[in-house]
Amino acid sequence: MFWFSDDLEREELESLARAAGYAGLDILTLALTPGELQVKVLSPLTLPLGEGSEPYHTILLVYGFPGRAGSEGGWSAPALPGLPPSAAHLFDLLAGNLSSQGSLFVAGPPSHLPHFGLELEKRGFTFKYWYAVEWQMETSPAVGGLPTVHLGVLHYVRRLARVTIAKVRIPHQYCRFCGEPLADWGGKKASRNPAGRVISDVWLQLDAWQDRHDWRREVLRRLLSLAAPASSSCPPRALLARLIMPVSAAAAPASRNGGLPERPGTGEVPRDTILLGDILEVIRQLPAESVDLAFADPPYNLDKRYNQYEDDRHDEEYLAWCNQWLQEYVRLLKPGGSLFVLNLPKWAVHHAVFLDGLPEMRRLNWIAWDALSEPRGRVMPAHYALLFYSKGPLPRHFHPGRAQVLPRGYCFRGKCVKERAGKVPAAELNDIWSDVHRIKHRRDRDEHPCQLPLRLMERIISIASDEGDLVFDGFMGTGSTALAARRLGRHYLGIEIDPAYIAIARAKLEQEALQLGLFRGDTLCQACQ
Ligand SMILES: C[S@@+](CC[C@H](N)C(=O)[O-])C[C@H]1O[C@@H](n2cnc3c(N)ncnc32)[C@H](O)[C@@H]1O
Repeated sequence: MFWFSDDLEREELESLARAAGYAGLDILTLALTPGELQVKVLSPLTLPLGEGSEPYHTILLVYGFPGRAGSEGGWSAPALPGLPPSAAHLFDLLAGNLSSQGSLFVAGPPSHLPHFGLELEKRGFTFKYWYAVEWQMETSPAVGGLPTVHLGVLHYVRRLARVTIAKVRIPHQYCRFCGEPLADWGGKKASRNPAGRVISDVWLQLDAWQDRHDWRREVLRRLLSLAAPASSSCPPRALLARLIMPVSAAAAPASRNGGLPERPGTGEVPRDTILLGDILEVIRQLPAESVDLAFADPPYNLDKRYNQYEDDRHDEEYLAWCNQWLQEYVRLLKPGGSLFVLNLPKWAVHHAVFLDGLPEMRRLNWIAWDALSEPRGRVMPAHYALLFYSKGPLPRHFHPGRAQVLPRGYCFRGKCVKERAGKVPAAELNDIWSDVHRIKHRRDRDEHPCQLPLRLMERIISIASDEGDLVFDGFMGTGSTALAARRLGRHYLGIEIDPAYIAIARAKLEQEALQLGLFRGDTLCQACQ
């Protein structure tokens, strides 16, 4: 049985499409055969993608793998991501049958999704969104990583095409404890709009709709609505293409460090210091295999106002630069060390494909951090991608149980959190993190355009390292990683190009150390003393 729609009524899907402004919905089932330029059409329908057929306004490609119980199109993904060559043929077919103003969605487990994204970019498509959907199916077993509840849906459109994304609202949800709206962003007006709140790119708790709809129908309804055609006398059709992927042999984890040599790096690695300079120049001087946990929060190429850094490079230039420092990060990590890379999903798609191609690295999770930024545009951008890799098949230190996770369906208001303490069981950590907000108020942030919340850094460091370990951050900003590492009894090592940010980080570290009577005389680079 295919996970997406076998048990959904065809007529219902058709009427869903009509309600969203389409003439109807065609359904196809395809299978990729490994290594061959062949796409098998399994659907009893005749292939509607032939010459002369009307292009679709919206195509949703959903993929799955032969299930563990041997059923076709199940969920469980093989351990090795990557696409067989036949995928290229598939994308040519799909791209050739999508209208110029159309939207192409690809839905499936995050393991393979970045590779699909890149295939689309090669064919002139451009990234719009990665919707992180919390799905209510069996939890995929976590081999070394966090349990996955994350279904990814990529949204691509043709480059330079003028595509209108419709504003879609969803009903307000309320805290199960205090009854206040769950969403506390966008002001009172937003939370009182009777039409609901504007959708973001993280879709949680679709089970709230389960009594009325299957959650997959709700996903389909949202996607078709976001990409809905402008009203016309001759509405177009949509296509749901269900793709059964071939399974590549999964490599069994051999050992904790993947058989990589336990070769100590040459030279001494500095500790408890933030080095002033350019990431590439400084990192190349650091010894190989010297850090236990590496974290990267690079500039997002969004034209943010940094003091020292031009944040608006050409895409190719930015990505080539990222690949250079990613390669150095990998060199720096000890075997069995963990790597976390935070970026916008649009860039993280490329980071994932690059890192997946390095034989020593294994992607454990694409964690969707639901960071709740300001309402902006048609879809509120809330999803930050946090890629989690280990150097070798398994991370040496991994303790997800250390994370204090607020359960879904409860608000973050301090008063409510306090009152419900001990009354509501904590939740298990999985690959959608929705309980850590970005720093919302100016009064809580330093003079820095994108300082991260300490709680995020404390979570990453506590689950992926142990006391005494060395935590590296090559884009230290105003020192969130250093502060969190020291609070948790780890050593830190940072690089930052801007002396003003280093000065802020240093002042915070010193102030906290003095307050706690812990001042250990941490060293800071000479340039910023
Ligand atoms: C997204 S911010 C990191 C913020 C940090 N995580 C925090 O919480 O403060 C990126 C940082 O990278 C720094 N940066 C930009 N280009 C750099 C480079 N070439 N080498 C080192 N640091 C750089 C910027 O100055 C900025 O502080």
